[in-house]
Amino acid sequence: MRFPAEPFRIKVVEPLRRVTREERERLIREAGLNIFAVPADSIYVDLLTDSGTSAMSDHQWAGLMLGDESYAGSRNYYHFAETVRGIFGYPHVIPTHQGRMAENLLFSSVLKPGDVVPNNIHFDTTRANVEHQKAEARDLVIDEGLDPTSPHPFKGNLDPVKLDRTLRQLGRERVPLVMITVTNNSGGGQPVAMANVREVREVCDRHGVPLIFDACRFAENCWFIQQREPGYANRPVREIAREMFALGDGCTMSAKKDGLVNIGGFLALTNAEWVEKITNLLILVEGFPTYGGLAGRDLEAMARGLEEVLNEDYLAFRVGQVAQLGRMLDEAGVPIVKPVGGHAVYLDARRFLPAIPQSQFPGQSLVVALYREFGIRAVEVGSLMFGHRDPATGEHVYPTLDLVRLAIPRRVYTTEHMRYVAESVIQLHRERDRLKGLALVYEAPVLRHFTARLEELSGAETVAHGG
Ligand code: F0G
Repeated sequence: MRFPAEPFRIKVVEPLRRVTREERERLIREAGLNIFAVPADSIYVDLLTDSGTSAMSDHQWAGLMLGDESYAGSRNYYHFAETVRGIFGYPHVIPTHQGRMAENLLFSSVLKPGDVVPNNIHFDTTRANVEHQKAEARDLVIDEGLDPTSPHPFKGNLDPVKLDRTLRQLGRERVPLVMITVTNNSGGGQPVAMANVREVREVCDRHGVPLIFDACRFAENCWFIQQREPGYANRPVREIAREMFALGDGCTMSAKKDGLVNIGGFLALTNAEWVEKITNLLILVEGFPTYGGLAGRDLEAMARGLEEVLNEDYLAFRVGQVAQLGRMLDEAGVPIVKPVGGHAVYLDARRFLPAIPQSQFPGQSLVVALYREFGIRAVEVGSLMFGHRDPATGEHVYPTLDLVRLAIPRRVYTTEHMRYVAESVIQLHRERDRLKGLALVYEAPVLRHFTARLEELSGAETVAHGG
């Protein structure tokens, strides 16, 4: 197995600045050991996120010139809405400037305090938007989804037994909707099987509760269904997507992922009553319903991106590039989440740095070292992102998984970039005993990882607390 060949050639290049180790050391210190505060032009390979970082095609760039910037009824809106209906099948299409606005509009319109939203695993903005309504975001992924070594092919599956139990306990009064995130980002970018969506749908039907997809990475999820699920090998990804979405009542979407654009999102729904409430709120906070916080040209780029993402040569390259990076790390003994997900390779920080306890942020320690030593930016998805104090007891609560995500932007980095990343991580793994634990010096009350400041503990402190 090698890296797959790129199904595109390069027409425009974006030069990268090389930064010395000394400069990186200074920059990460000034940033309070928070990689979000490091200027992007001081980074060599930026794997912070696959969101909004895609390279657009010539066809998308050409579409920008066809932007119709009319306040109402832009032709690009009609093209966009038709494209979304064609792929997702839901009649009502509401553009938003990105995914979290779609979440915010949906939850502000349908949740009340004390409600519960089940999901396989909520992404952090989804969780925060549920909690903002004083509702509970409940993660019900299958047990294998929390085991970074389980080879289960669909570790994103939502456990239908846990869901049924939740719905029996709470009833539809307290559960206005069930969500399912494809692919399951916070669990390692793992796919959800069609059979699982069908089972979840049956449970939802039994209790009369609608099912809404968080569809950010729907094309990658449907690619995995084609590759792994019996009965789908000869089905086009587009058809698989249609079948999957037909099992739901709508979706929230961040087109910054599988829309192949730098900004954009939407809600697509069947429930006209919800749509009315959401539209009224949309006009108040986001924009008129035919532009939803975007320019006409953005809607055109999104319409074209949603078509391109279903191209199977593209998907084979995309998912194959991520898989090959994972394979190189795995073969060198670096602990990663397996199987490798669709958009990212996740390092398992607890196994990578067993001497650093979760209270000292092993994942963030890895993130800091990857930048300082190699100019690579990754993101922690673990105790810094999800750790919190129990409101009742004041005790620290840590997530089961402490991961570091190497998210691969779509169509951006070459095979040589990927090899550089693999070799860097392998070298860091060999020298892992040199890494130290971290301590928080500042944290915000919500979504603390974006603005937290940390300091490095001495080697002795790390050993003392971790031993
Ligand atoms: N849902 C999932 C599964 C996501 O991964 C994201 C964003 C969102 C919703 C929110 O979308 O950013 O457009 O508002 N994930 C990005 C990431 C930020 O890095 O994984 P948004």
